[in-house]
Order: sequence, then C-alpha cells, then structure tokens
Amino acid sequence: MQTEIISVDPRSPQPDVIARAAAVLQRGGLVAFPTETVYGLGANALDPVAVAKIFAAKGRPANNPIIVHIPDAASVERVAAAWPEHAARLAVHFWPGPLTLVLPKRRELPAVVTAGGPTVAVRVPANPIALELLRAADIPVAAPSANLSSELSPTRAEHVHRGLAGRVDLILDGGPAAGGIESTVVDVTRTPPRLLRPGLLHPAEIERVIGSLARGSAIASSDLAPLASPGMLARHYAPKTKLYCENEAARERIEALAARGDRLAWIPFAAPLDLGQPNVHAVPMPKDPAGYAAKLYAVLHELDEANLTAIVVELPPATDDWLAIRDRLLRAMQRASL
Ligand code: TXA
Ligand code: MG
Repeated sequence: MQTEIISVDPRSPQPDVIARAAAVLQRGGLVAFPTETVYGLGANALDPVAVAKIFAAKGRPANNPIIVHIPDAASVERVAAAWPEHAARLAVHFWPGPLTLVLPKRRELPAVVTAGGPTVAVRVPANPIALELLRAADIPVAAPSANLSSELSPTRAEHVHRGLAGRVDLILDGGPAAGGIESTVVDVTRTPPRLLRPGLLHPAEIERVIGSLARGSAIASSDLAPLASPGMLARHYAPKTKLYCENEAARERIEALAARGDRLAWIPFAAPLDLGQPNVHAVPMPKDPAGYAAKLYAVLHELDEANLTAIVVELPPATDDWLAIRDRLLRAMQRASL
C-alpha cells in the first residue's frame, strides 16, 4: 500500500483535504490524523473489516479494545447504549478534550472495536482537523494511537510515517500534537466511576466535577501495578533504546553504565543536568506536568534515533499531577529491561 502524507493547516483545515480523508474512511481505508493528545490511526468504527485493518497495521492484540472518536456528545448514541449522569456531567466539562469515557456498548457496534466486550470507550477530540474529519465523514471513527503495538505513541506525522509507512492509506500532517500523551480513560458504567488509564486530564480535575474516582490500588505508588483496562499491558509506550527509571540512584546508575562504555542520555528531574560524566547527553525537561507531557514522546522518539545504548530518567514525584507521566515512563522501562 502506498502511504500518502498531506499537510493540513490546524487553524483552518482545507475542506478539500478533509473531504478526501473522509472519503478514504467511508470506503473502509485507514487515515492517520492529529488529535490534541497524540496522532490516531482511524477507521470506520461501524465497518468490522475496516477496523480489522487497524489491528493488522499495528500488530495490536485482538483483546485490546479501541477508542471511538465522535464530533460531539450528541453522537454518543450511535455507539453507546446508555448515557449515565456522570458521563453527561464530564462531557459538558471536558469535551472536546483528552477524556475518554467507557460506556455500555450499543449492540450494533461491531464486536471487533470493543474486543468482544460489553463496553465502548468514546471521546470527542479537541483538534480542528480531527473534528472536521469526523464531521465530514459522518461516521464514528475507531482510532488507537498511530504506532506499532507497544511502541511509543506518535506526536508528529513523521513518527507515524516511520512506524506505519505502507500500512496506512493517508496521513494528515497537522504539526505536533500539543498535549503529547494520551487521553485519560474513565469507566462511567460503575459508581463511583473508575480511572482506567491516567492521561492528559488530571484526576483532580475530574474529581472536582463528579467526586472521588475509584483507582487501581497501586497506581499512585512508586512501583506501578497494571490498571484494570483490557489491553493495558505493563510493557507499553516503549522506545527501542533501553530505558532506566531511577529515583535517588540515578548518579550511581549513570556512573555504572558510563564505566562500561555506554552512550547515554540523561533526563533529570531534580538532580543536576551535568553529572560530570563524558558521553552523557543531558536532556532538560519542563518542571510542570503539561510541559513535560508535551515533550516526552518527542524527546524519546528523537533519542531513539540517536543510536544511544541507554536512556536514564529521573522519575518525577509520585503525586497525582505526575501520575500519567510516571505511568508512561514506568511502562516504557518494563519493556526495555527485559
Ligand atoms: O489520546 C488518546 O486516547 C489516543 C488518541 C488517538 O485519541 N488514543 C489512544 O488509543 O491512546 P489506544 O488504543 O492507544 O489506547 C486506548 C486505551 C487502551 O488502554 C484500551 O485498553 C482502553 O483505551 N480502552 C479502549 N476501549 C476500552 C473499553 N471498552 N474498556 C476499557 N478500556 C478501554
Ligand atoms: Mg496506544
């Protein structure tokens, strides 16, 4: 398959380009498009053959359900069978935006989208290109992150192309995805609603609207337990380069790796940028969660291209506002340390 890339202006997406992309979706093809979190790999959610192409392109395990993207809350009824009070309140506050709601699935929605399960995950993305595409196609669009399964999510069109060239019909290049990490996934089929995947929208903001969320027992602690979301693999979001996450022992780790001749990248949080080691490429990161999220995958993609032997990251604090970042870093490490 030939993969075409077209630039789109995120402030005012060209209608002819959007119409072309919509036509690809309507005839069962795959379109990668920017959202405010990361790039998505979209297919017609109502067409099981089209959705199966997503699983094939990504090498995604069939037991990992896919988020369905819609242009507005009114479109929920096309894929979900109920609209609980908590969902309605959250949608008013946070849609369009980086919040995914898990709802009872509508019977007509193909089982392949939900990995055979009784629920569907839905969100309205806050990106003009994504929204125009969803409106023009006039179909719910199933879209996981546009990367090979278990690898880093893409925040730029070139990341998508590097991973999926030849496996996707069209890539809409709308520049860098501003948010940088994935949406927060909340199960609103139960009371209290449950946080399934930490993400760009912080739990505190959600709790301000609907009160306490149920959580996986260990997600706020330093060693992260897998969350209760199907397909949330412990090993996920990983660069190809070996990645170490450290708290206080960063200096010792770097000295040990440097001593055996490794070429290292060092991403500190509170520790000094310069550890006085040659062959260590230091990468400063923003000190706020939003700034850090916006850069995280882009930095890891770039370091992955730099032919290093290891990346050492000093973990941000184990507080709620850093939950999603720590989740992604610890999952990235799991793969690398195998
Ligand atoms: O920001 C995002 O959410 C991006 C953009 C493209 O929208 N999408 C994304 O999709 O990150 P993906 O497939 O990489 O992650 C979807 C997550 C997985 O953890 C999956 O298990 C969970 O959502 N999920 C999907 N459907 C679910 C369901 N019915 N019940 C529970 N979890 C579900
Ligand atoms: Mg993903």
